[in-house]
Amino acid sequence: MAKDFRAMELSNESGNPSIHEQSELSRRALISGGLSAWMFTVFGSTTSFAQIPSPQTISRLGFKGIAADSLDRLVVPDGYTAQVLAPWGEAVGVIGNMPAWKLDGSNSAADQAAQMGMHHDGLHFYALGKDRGLLVMNHEYTDDGLLHTDGIKTWSAEKVLKAQAAHGISVIEVELKNNVWDMVRPSKYARRLTTNTPFALGGPAAGHPMMKTAADPQGRMVAGTLNNCASGKTPWGTYLSGEENWAFYFDAGKNLDAHQKRWGLREKGLYRWPEFDTRFDVVKNPNEPNRFGWVVEVDPMDPTSTPIKRTALGRAAHEGAWVAVTKEKRAVVYSGEDARFEYIYKFVSRDAIKEATATQTKAQVNKELLDYGTLYVARFDADGTGKWLPLVHGQGGLNAANGFADLGEVVIKARQASDLLGGTKMDRPEWLAIDQVSKEVFCTLTNNSQRGEAGKPAPDAANPVTNNVMGNVIRWKENNDFDATTFAWNHLVFAGDPENERLAAKPRPVKTGAATDIFACPDGLALDSRGVLWIQTDAHASQMYKGELKNIGNNQMLACDQATGEIRRFLTGPTNCEITGCTWSDDARTMFINVQHPGETASDRSDPEFPDKFSNWPSGVKGARPRSATVVIRKNDGGVIGA
Ligand code: FEO
Ligand code: CA
Ligand code: CA
Repeated sequence: MAKDFRAMELSNESGNPSIHEQSELSRRALISGGLSAWMFTVFGSTTSFAQIPSPQTISRLGFKGIAADSLDRLVVPDGYTAQVLAPWGEAVGVIGNMPAWKLDGSNSAADQAAQMGMHHDGLHFYALGKDRGLLVMNHEYTDDGLLHTDGIKTWSAEKVLKAQAAHGISVIEVELKNNVWDMVRPSKYARRLTTNTPFALGGPAAGHPMMKTAADPQGRMVAGTLNNCASGKTPWGTYLSGEENWAFYFDAGKNLDAHQKRWGLREKGLYRWPEFDTRFDVVKNPNEPNRFGWVVEVDPMDPTSTPIKRTALGRAAHEGAWVAVTKEKRAVVYSGEDARFEYIYKFVSRDAIKEATATQTKAQVNKELLDYGTLYVARFDADGTGKWLPLVHGQGGLNAANGFADLGEVVIKARQASDLLGGTKMDRPEWLAIDQVSKEVFCTLTNNSQRGEAGKPAPDAANPVTNNVMGNVIRWKENNDFDATTFAWNHLVFAGDPENERLAAKPRPVKTGAATDIFACPDGLALDSRGVLWIQTDAHASQMYKGELKNIGNNQMLACDQATGEIRRFLTGPTNCEITGCTWSDDARTMFINVQHPGETASDRSDPEFPDKFSNWPSGVKGARPRSATVVIRKNDGGVIGA
């Protein structure tokens, strides 16, 4: 049986399998309240949402929506072309080291360390001039059944090294020529950051006793990053990447302490790395897990720079991190923790963002910006307002008597600190998107079928759906500026299929009549330069094509015109993939997204019908391994995407 953390996550997540077998399964797609929902009294006035434009009738969505699809192909609207770029295994273009991809999975670990990693996720574009730039992207996890020639029939130190080399982050250079984007190889910028690349620690946990190991007695340098999920681009030109399901990589033995249990460590992890890399054996290296779960910052323009884990932003199963700027030019970093009943955070920098100097780039002068500031956890109250609760040592019971010796311990134990402060336990916060003008922040809550189960948190105002398998998008508006400690919130949309509704999902929020294409499990989220909100989905393979997801088809991407409330389907992906990551060229005429884990399945890779029964994307060749890849989307007339 292939070990697949996504499958395990889902089986844990599902909790009660009977939920999936009820005859009246499902959820509805609806916009709750629309614009009028913002016009309630907040902070003693009704003016908080005055910046939101009046409802419009002319849609900003200029493409013809497409149907749901269940075939092993990628579909975009009429008038658009999609092109595959940089699939798993392509050489990234390191000068003097460009190993060719081998169809049979026989590339070595050393080859893989110079090739695109597996399972592309968050990505951003960094312009290097007209029609040229860098794409920086995450590689979330590996499917070892696909990665090695004989899959997981045997296991070895080389396989562990290859898997570690297929994780992490890639920096590639790309260029548009004759209407086609291609990789520039070799490139002085091309770079792989893997689970064995040195990462520095910054912020209050750097050098902390809980971060020290035999290999790093100072507690200031970590070997690598892993399970990098979503990404953010900072106004100073760096890349932020979240370390998400890091706990699954460790074997923690039988005697877990309270801290280890709270962070989801288990006797046995999922990847068999500890058999050949004792760093992931928690009994031998009890502090190693504390060194993962951070937001990491990379300066892609400086290929010699050391990436840094920003501990001031708090430790979590971080999906990603996104930056807003206050009127005083301080950075506010929003992040969520994609785990059931965990939290949404924001960090407000102490200092203002500085401009570049004659000798230093903006990234270089802001190198310590994210090491000093205040971390908050969100509390969503039933009246539609909310509060940001500070994770400050010495405040709110965050003291030595309660297990927090100093600020370092507060950020390392951010979950325990948030428990104590009373943050709201959310339905798996995934991506966030920030409207810098309206001060609205959007967050996908992908699903949480354990919501309301016996012994689990009950539905609440922000997470109102019992056994929430379809997910929703929540939004809030900060009171005056992004560093506010209060906000107002409501839901943008609840995912689901009105024709295939599950009665058990009650109570349902209010609906409006907005036209909405059906989708499930929102995950990726991004605002384009026109203010259109792009929503990407990640329903798990084991749930798709049946029950309440029967009519929803493959994972997809949709565009939401917030002004009209309409959500229109723009793209459908191949079989059992997820669609993730969304970035644009500076002229908004090219969109880059990622297709992750086409052909993902909970079944054994030794299935004689694998991969053909599942996916051969993108090659379409029978017998070919499916490969995650970046997809470039252009309008045939060269116009702005979505307009
Ligand atoms: Fe890696 Fe939360 O998706
Ligand atoms: Ca995700
Ligand atoms: Ca997801």
